[in-house]
Amino acid sequence: VPDLKEQAKKKAAVAAVDEHVKDGMILGVGSGSTIVYAVERLVERVEQEKLKVVCIPTSFQAHQLIVQNKLLLGSLDTTPILDCAIDGADEVDSDLTLIKGGGGCQTQEKIVASCARKLVIVADYTKDSKTLGEQYKKIPIEIIPLSHVPVSLKISDRFGGKTQLRMGKMKAGPVVSDNGNFIIDWFFPEGITDWKSVHEYIKLIPGVVETGLFVNMAEMAYFGLSDGSVKTVT
Ligand code: A5P
Repeated sequence: VPDLKEQAKKKAAVAAVDEHVKDGMILGVGSGSTIVYAVERLVERVEQEKLKVVCIPTSFQAHQLIVQNKLLLGSLDTTPILDCAIDGADEVDSDLTLIKGGGGCQTQEKIVASCARKLVIVADYTKDSKTLGEQYKKIPIEIIPLSHVPVSLKISDRFGGKTQLRMGKMKAGPVVSDNGNFIIDWFFPEGITDWKSVHEYIKLIPGVVETGLFVNMAEMAYFGLSDGSVKTVT
């Protein structure tokens, strides 16, 4: 039996790659499981249409995907302006405010997205919400390791909710990000609407590297639906 959610991810990814990728483009390649389908489609199009697309990775995973599929690997050092970045998300609200970092890659993802003329999100129907917190209950926050206790306290003192240092599944001890940092998952309370202020407050706490809140960054989202169609939000 086909997995509806996997099919939905694939449909969204294919639609986004087909509509946004053009020859000669500098493209940001996101992280996560949905982006794998986008890379698959990109590889097909590069081969069939002989496209020249320079790919900028948003994570170790994206770097591996680019290299293993023999796509052209670029870097922000040589191409700091991107035409487009395609990435997944953990939740997307109706204003296209995003929660990212379920895979711990939000810092590099945000740097790459900030360099792109447009950020296009690919996701399945479970990520499509009116307000954040309907499905995904936490904001991943990358922090400098020695700051995890004070940063956690400062977040819960200001906003409530609960914080958790993300622990490894196959490792004893905390998850270490691609940048050698730790991740705090903040289980936020209900009722928050001003995500921009929340992001700005947390970002200014010493020790915080980046939050998984992406406010006013995404230009468009493609959601694969359970009936096989694709919904776009702009
Ligand atoms: C990586 O840290 C995240 O920001 C991903 O972009 C996000 O978790 C989406 O992943 P999936 O496509 O696997 O849901």
